[in-house]
Amino acid sequence: MKNKPRNIEPPESPIIISLEQAIRERRSVHYFKRGSRIARAQWRTLFELTSLSPSSFNFQPWDFVIIEDEARKRALRPLCMNQQQILDAAAIIGVIGDKNPHRRDRAILQQFVNNGYFDTGVRDAYLGAVDMLYPDEGRRIEHAVGGASLAAMTLMLAAQGMGLATAPLIGFDVRAVTAFLGVPRDYLVVMLIAIGHSALHELPRQQRRPFQEIVHQEHFGHAPE
Ligand SMILES: Cc1cc2nc3c(=O)[nH]c(=O)nc-3n(C[C@H](O)[C@H](O)[C@H](O)COP(=O)(O)O)c2cc1C
Repeated sequence: MKNKPRNIEPPESPIIISLEQAIRERRSVHYFKRGSRIARAQWRTLFELTSLSPSSFNFQPWDFVIIEDEARKRALRPLCMNQQQILDAAAIIGVIGDKNPHRRDRAILQQFVNNGYFDTGVRDAYLGAVDMLYPDEGRRIEHAVGGASLAAMTLMLAAQGMGLATAPLIGFDVRAVTAFLGVPRDYLVVMLIAIGHSALHELPRQQRRPFQEIVHQEHFGHAPE
């Protein structure tokens, strides 16, 4: 049977806190310990976990640019409303969305065949369907931003579990940062994430909109039970 459940042995985990704890304790950190570094092995783990994020057709419309160099961070800061996190964090990650979901369609749809999800006939039908799903610039931008944002969230939670602190940032000059990171035409900078070690207690977390307000039952506008 093709989809018989397998016993998958997880690799030894670098994460020792529960998922709930990671979600509850993650904050957008404003105060990073200056001069801290992230080890190469930690980067590997972080991006291996990040890459497990879901995406439409498994197209994985995300790329990441790591900026660790002090001079580069100093040059980046004025492009980001002079936000201090840019300088203090161990690194800044440029989260890049891929506007061309067709780039890898043949190879990725073939993986679905190789892994027993569907046959070559369905693969060929999907090759066309992908064109219909992402027919214009607007849909491609949505796909790039949505996919890269899901990966960014995985990254921030994985980092939290690994004892790292993060801060998502969108307060920057998009054109200037796009050029600074050398991002090609078909891609866009979805956000930056400062990452490092937290230095101080943050102010209390801001309130969230309550269940009754954000959840709708059956139809938008109907109060949940
Ligand atoms: C896409 C995105 C962009 C953000 N940009 C900034 C930013 O430029 N500067 C900043 O100080 N915080 C930024 N934030 C952080 C938010 O202010 C923060 O997530 C929100 O106030 C909730 O706080 P918490 O993350 O600590 O729970 C951003 C968050 C997101 C998700």
